[in-house]
Amino acid sequence: MTGAVQLPLNLERLPPDVREQLRRIYEVPTTGTEAYLEVDRVYLGDARDLLKRIRPNSVALSVWSPPYFVGKSYEKDLSFEEWQDLLATVIRLHFPIIKPGGFLAINIADILTFKDPTMPRVQAEVISARKINLTREQILAVKEKYPHFNRYDLARYFGVSEQTIDRRLHGNNVRGGKYATQTRVKLVGGLIEQWGSEAGFYLYDRRIWVKDPAWKNSRWVSMSYRSVDEFEYIYIFWKPGITRVDRRKLSKQEWKEWGSRAVWYIPSVRANDDHEAKFPLDLPRRLIRLLTEPGDIVLDCFLGSGTTAVAALLEDRHFIGIEIVPKYVELAKRNIAHALAEKARGAYHAASS
Ligand SMILES: C[S@@+](CC[C@H](N)C(=O)[O-])C[C@H]1O[C@@H](n2cnc3c(N)ncnc32)[C@H](O)[C@@H]1O
Repeated sequence: MTGAVQLPLNLERLPPDVREQLRRIYEVPTTGTEAYLEVDRVYLGDARDLLKRIRPNSVALSVWSPPYFVGKSYEKDLSFEEWQDLLATVIRLHFPIIKPGGFLAINIADILTFKDPTMPRVQAEVISARKINLTREQILAVKEKYPHFNRYDLARYFGVSEQTIDRRLHGNNVRGGKYATQTRVKLVGGLIEQWGSEAGFYLYDRRIWVKDPAWKNSRWVSMSYRSVDEFEYIYIFWKPGITRVDRRKLSKQEWKEWGSRAVWYIPSVRANDDHEAKFPLDLPRRLIRLLTEPGDIVLDCFLGSGTTAVAALLEDRHFIGIEIVPKYVELAKRNIAHALAEKARGAYHAASS
């Protein structure tokens, strides 16, 4: 049984099989809770509930990018403990549904501004950000020469305010706020590895995705010696079983350019206007081409705007998508329908970059 179907596209002149695929995407599945999720559909709900409804040993590859614990709207209510629990649970629920010999690929980044209340608050004096070029040492030298000078005398001497003298002497001109909790880097790879192996997986590979540098967070860079945010990780877990290795699935050139390469240079999605954290189509598309065969099932349980599903259908694989935010489910369906229609019209070519 299914709900009413409303298609957003003009389907005239599309082949009947493509029309049928589009119809399935827009159907609202109303099957009982005990039934397995069907392929080539997007489901609204929590990954922790819906993963339990995927057929065991059926998914060749699951590719996703979860909430990163960096304060996006869809994760702002999560504590660090809840975030860890979400990821550990989702990884654990993958083990039964991945095919023996199949893969789970997780795209994630370290947390670069991880609030740590134990971190000492006195940090760097940002000399280059100062409006008045006066150091603590200069004030101390004058104080030594004129021991009776109070802060008013010192202020007059240097031609600055008493507050400036105070700030320099007592080290409370630390940017980022004397009272704000300090932030540090939190590595997530160790946690992901631990949750993956506790679930029964083996870490098979890890790659780096080099994206566009995020200069817009430049306060992080300009107020410290820290580097700009410009790479993420892809951790690939393997479920024990027979994995068919077919080196013919990529051309020699593709193996050389990205198939065998640990570092992938893929430009970020510039237009994050409809979803705040999309990954580029080429990221799931490369993983799908590398780790699956045509006709296989590809899963994304943090589907967002539907990028993984689009990549899967462009590569003639089946997909299952799960997303918790209703407006993103609608966005994903629109993007999938659009890609399907474009593909049918011959606008896409099988070859990825
Ligand atoms: C980093 S985004 C993924 C973006 C996606 N890769 C794309 O290209 O559009 C993570 C997504 O997970 C969704 N999400 C967060 N918690 C979830 C949960 N418990 N179950 C399912 N989806 C969830 C968010 O709404 C968000 O769209």
